[in-house]
Amino acid sequence: MIVLGIETSCDETAAAIVTGEGQILADAVLSQLDEHRPFGGVVPELAARSHLENIDSLVSQALSEADLNFSDLDAVAATGGPGLIGGVIVGVMTGKAIAAVRDLPFIAVNHLEGHALSARLSERSSGNAELSFPYLLLLVSGGHCQLLIVEGVGTYRRLGTTVDDALGEAFDKIAKMLGLGYPGGPAVEQAALGGDAHRFDFPRPMKGRAGCDFSFSGLKTAVRHAALALPEGPLQEQDVADLCASFQTAAADALADRTAHALAEFKARHPGGNALVVAGGVAANMAIRQRLNTLTADYGVRLVAPPGRLCTDNGAMIAWAGVERIQALGADAAADGLDFAPRPRWPLDPDAPAAAFAGVKA
Ligand code: KG4
Ligand code: ZN
Repeated sequence: MIVLGIETSCDETAAAIVTGEGQILADAVLSQLDEHRPFGGVVPELAARSHLENIDSLVSQALSEADLNFSDLDAVAATGGPGLIGGVIVGVMTGKAIAAVRDLPFIAVNHLEGHALSARLSERSSGNAELSFPYLLLLVSGGHCQLLIVEGVGTYRRLGTTVDDALGEAFDKIAKMLGLGYPGGPAVEQAALGGDAHRFDFPRPMKGRAGCDFSFSGLKTAVRHAALALPEGPLQEQDVADLCASFQTAAADALADRTAHALAEFKARHPGGNALVVAGGVAANMAIRQRLNTLTADYGVRLVAPPGRLCTDNGAMIAWAGVERIQALGADAAADGLDFAPRPRWPLDPDAPAAAFAGVKA
């Protein structure tokens, strides 16, 4: 089986080709970072236009990388939501057009499901033992911060979500506040390397509270207040490093506390469950990975972190989610109609209540 995957829900235009065995034959990603950088964040209208300009050539690039033609494809999968709706429309229309012309099944993939299943792809493509269901997923990106039990393809139980900012968003806003540029995550991580994590005593939001929800806006405000309380004039490099290190440690502690609750709930529901998967752009952060590694050791589960390329937005995880759907349901049942309507909001667990101020992050 050969599936084309298209991803256009945020600021990466991506097309990839993946086989039923989990081989990534092509993985083309075009980041729009340079277009959004002057604005310090993703501008939805610019993103949609840029997806439209680039998606066709990315699909061609993926096909030529894989040395394949449209006639070799068995299905087309595209992100159908949640995300910035202009971009999602571009990807969905492109996928539908290819499917219509080539008479292929079209599969609208939930972007979060792409992240959720990406670790099964990376474990397979790196030759490791199969990552079997159920597992706990910590999804931390610029748009989402959630803990979910992945029980099977299409079966997700959300244990917690952010009630305000996603963690990547907090990294980005703090970087902007400290003059570190965009995207913030890698810049904050880099600056933190030379900083003193004990200099500022920042809050660990939600720590000790029941449940698995997150909150990062109070931590972000605390960093702002600490920066404003420093002597007037431009921030010194050491101050920035100390602020970043103290913030990153507080964020990692908060994540670990919430994830510990989720691990306890996961083990209670599934005593045999043995893996925590961390995915999304923030999963690239080494300090956070180390913190999670210590935590999983305490619970006797292994930490699975897909390589950075599969953690940030990409087409391979969308193609793979298409493969998984076809393998689970058969091509006919897995396919969506060409009347599928792109979805700005699309919770993975339809039974989970929407969080008050989290927007699409819930
Ligand atoms: O998954 P992703 O590429 O896009 C979505 O948001 O869906 O994640 C991007 C986010 C950005 O907020 C970026 O600042 C953050 O992931 N990020 C990091 C790191 N690398 C990327 N955050 C912390 N540390 C990093 N090394
Ligand atoms: Zn994403």
